[in-house]
Amino acid sequence: MKFATLSLALATVSAGLAAPSQGPGGKYYGKAKGLNDLARRAGLLYFGTAVDNPSLNNSKYLSIAYDTSEFGQATPANGQKWMYIEPQRNVFNYTMGDAIIKPAKNNGQMRRCHTFLWHSQLPDWLTSKNYTKTELISILENHIKNEATYYKNDCYAWDVVNEAFNEDGTYRNTLWLWTIGPEYLEYAFKFARKYTSRQTKLYYNDYNVERVNNKSIAIAKMVRDFQRKGVPIDGVGFQAHFKTGSTPSYEEQVASMKQFTKLGLEVAITELDVRTLLPDSAEKQAQQAKDYANTVKACKDTDDCVGVTVWDFWDPVSWVPDVFPGEGVACLWSANYTKKPAYYAVADVLGEDD
Ligand SMILES: *[C@@H]1O[C@H](CO)[C@@H](O)[C@H](O)[C@H]1NC(C)=O
Ligand SMILES: *[C@@H]1O[C@H](CO)[C@@H](O)[C@H](O)[C@H]1NC(C)=O
Ligand SMILES: *[C@@H]1O[C@H](CO)[C@@H](O)[C@H](O)[C@H]1NC(C)=O
Ligand SMILES: *[C@@H]1O[C@H](CO)[C@@H](O)[C@H](O)[C@H]1NC(C)=O
Ligand SMILES: *[C@@H]1O[C@H](CO)[C@@H](O)[C@H](O)[C@H]1NC(C)=O
Repeated sequence: MKFATLSLALATVSAGLAAPSQGPGGKYYGKAKGLNDLARRAGLLYFGTAVDNPSLNNSKYLSIAYDTSEFGQATPANGQKWMYIEPQRNVFNYTMGDAIIKPAKNNGQMRRCHTFLWHSQLPDWLTSKNYTKTELISILENHIKNEATYYKNDCYAWDVVNEAFNEDGTYRNTLWLWTIGPEYLEYAFKFARKYTSRQTKLYYNDYNVERVNNKSIAIAKMVRDFQRKGVPIDGVGFQAHFKTGSTPSYEEQVASMKQFTKLGLEVAITELDVRTLLPDSAEKQAQQAKDYANTVKACKDTDDCVGVTVWDFWDPVSWVPDVFPGEGVACLWSANYTKKPAYYAVADVLGEDD
């Protein structure tokens, strides 16, 4: 009897009788308690977050990061970058990667591993001289071999190559390009396939690709080229580092993702954050909420978009203030751990078909 009354009450609320949007909490979305619960109900594999090593001393932060109702997947923000993993040539150090991968694994969260090859955050031994082409290919193979073997069954996906293209669709001029040539991308993906477990999804990951533009078109061309040549690739990651009020539209984001899903790849939103020109205001928070929700909805509505990862969820540990002076408050949780309108907007979009 009690239960019947309760479910009647819930039915009344979910019929939308001027109920304010409250997000998770068992109130309007059945048993969903957080964003990952809602994402799973909406058919995604996960709602995830990046976690950075300096955050690991903060128990309040960790209680949210490892709350599987909020986050079903964790990505090391920095801990698996080359400078930390192979700080000296052929000397591997998995301490920082493990600090994020191991607790997530023990906790039943998926892991996106990030990243084998990038032009940034490389160790000095790699950047302070030019190697021959043959030597650099063998350095790349050795790096991927060791790290992929170490994290053999730990990663749902690997970002194999990060940010290899310029905005105009040409290859970014990096030591990889000038020493090996554009085929360094093929080497990286072949080595990744050779040394990761068979089920690991191999991703190319980049920013400013959330519209059909010269950069995303060039990446789609690379994918078709890989497919013709039999070079393995499973997915494309859309970083989605956005600015409040100037994000690509829902339609633009769907159209860009479809460039890849129609080639048989999966896609994912891999580094979502929406930064605001300070000072913040209620109006800016409302716009930020729309912007977050748009991107999450674009993924939810695109077949083969498997999940959304935010590039951390708590403002004090966001990368934004360091890199974009005068901007900030890019995350879903405020410094005082209150959930922003953006959090509830994301919950509403994920729960809208419930
Ligand atoms: C964690 O360490 C950072 C520096 O890495 C420090 O700024 C912060 O206050 C520490 N947080 C806690 C909760 O101890
Ligand atoms: C490995 O990295 C950790 C974290 O940066 C560091 O504390 C440790 O000293 C390193 N280990 C070795 C053997 O260099
Ligand atoms: C390596 O070669 C590139 C391209 O020729 C050049 O720009 C760069 O300065 C060289 N780096 C070093 C450390 O010599
Ligand atoms: C690609 O770049 C060219 C030259 O800058 C520009 O004219 C064109 O509009 C761009 N194409 C797209 C789809 O953005
Ligand atoms: C937490 O911070 C936000 C954003 O600065 C503010 O709007 C809110 O009032 C604060 N909440 C509490 C309980 O202090």
